[in-house]
Amino acid sequence: MLAYRHQFHAGNFADVFKHALLAQLLLALQKKTAPYFYLDTHAGIGLYDLSHPWAQKNAEHEAGIARVWKHPDAPAEIAPYLDAVRAENPGGTLRSYPGSPCIARRLMRAQDRIGLIELNRKDAQVLADLFVRDRRVTVECADGYQALKALLPPKERRGLILIDSSFDRAREFDRLTDAYAAAYRKFATGIFALWYPLMEPAAMRAFERGIVATGIRKILQLEIRVHADDWKATMRGCGLLVTNPPFGFDDTAASMLAWLAPLLYEDDPAVARTLRSRNMQTYEVKWLTGE
Ligand SMILES: C[S@@+](CC[C@H](N)C(=O)[O-])C[C@H]1O[C@@H](n2cnc3c(N)ncnc32)[C@H](O)[C@@H]1O
Repeated sequence: MLAYRHQFHAGNFADVFKHALLAQLLLALQKKTAPYFYLDTHAGIGLYDLSHPWAQKNAEHEAGIARVWKHPDAPAEIAPYLDAVRAENPGGTLRSYPGSPCIARRLMRAQDRIGLIELNRKDAQVLADLFVRDRRVTVECADGYQALKALLPPKERRGLILIDSSFDRAREFDRLTDAYAAAYRKFATGIFALWYPLMEPAAMRAFERGIVATGIRKILQLEIRVHADDWKATMRGCGLLVTNPPFGFDDTAASMLAWLAPLLYEDDPAVARTLRSRNMQTYEVKWLTGE
C-alpha cells in the first residue's frame, strides 16, 4: 500500500528546485546529436491539476512555482523549465503543473527515449494514458529500484537517471544508496540525479557517509533550505546529488540556486538575512566527491 501521492505536493519548492535543474541536465545532453535515454524511476502521474482538492489541501505550489513562474527577472538558465510550466498554462492562470515526465517529454528530440516507472497502479495508468500516443515514451508499473537493474545500461550508452523517491518508508536513504551504487556499476558513464529531503542533521551525515563509501567519484551536491535548521513541522529543504554532471553544470546550478533560493525561502526574510550573515546559506553547491 503506497500512502504517498505527489498531487499533495505538486509545484512546491522541492519540485521547482528539482525540475529547474532537471531541465538543464537534459538540455546539456542535447549538445551532442547522439540519442539519449532518460529514466525516471519514481515518475508520479506526469501532470498535476492544481485545483484538485489534494493539491489545494496545503496549496504547497503557492510557496513554490506560483512565486517563480511569472517572475520578470528569471535568469536564462531557469527559462526552459518555466517555458514547460507556461506551456501547460496557456491562459496565464496557474492551473496545471508538469511533473518530471512532462518536462522531459517536452524537451526530448525525435531520437531520444524516455522510460517512466511508477509503482502505484492507478498513477501508472494515468501516466500511461498521458503518453499513449508517443512511442518514444514507455511507462511501466514496477518498483523503480528493480527497473534500474533491468533497464541499465541503455542501448544509447548515454543518458540521465532521475531517482526521485517519495521517502515514505523507513531506511529509504539506505535503499537509495544501495540501488544507486548497483545502478552505477551497470552504467558508470551515465548522469545520475538523486533527490532527497533534508532530515535531521545526523541522518544527513550518515547518508553522505554512505554515498562517499560507495567510492563513486564526480558527485556534485546541491541543496536548498527554505526553513532554519531546527525547523521540524514540514520539510525544511532538499537536495540533489548529481553524478557525472555535464561540464560547467556546477556553475550553472550555482547561479540558478542563487536566484531561486531567496524567492523560495519560507521564513521571515529577516531570518534569511541572519542566516546569510552567519554564512549559513539558503543553498549550497559543492563537490561531495571529486575527480
Ligand atoms: C516524489 S513522487 C515523483 C515525482 C516525479 N518524479 C516528478 O518530479 O514529477 C514519487 C513517486 O514515486 C512513487 N513510488 C514510491 N515508491 C516507488 C517505487 N519503489 N518504485 C517506483 N515508484 C515508487 C510514488 O507513488 C510517487 O508517485
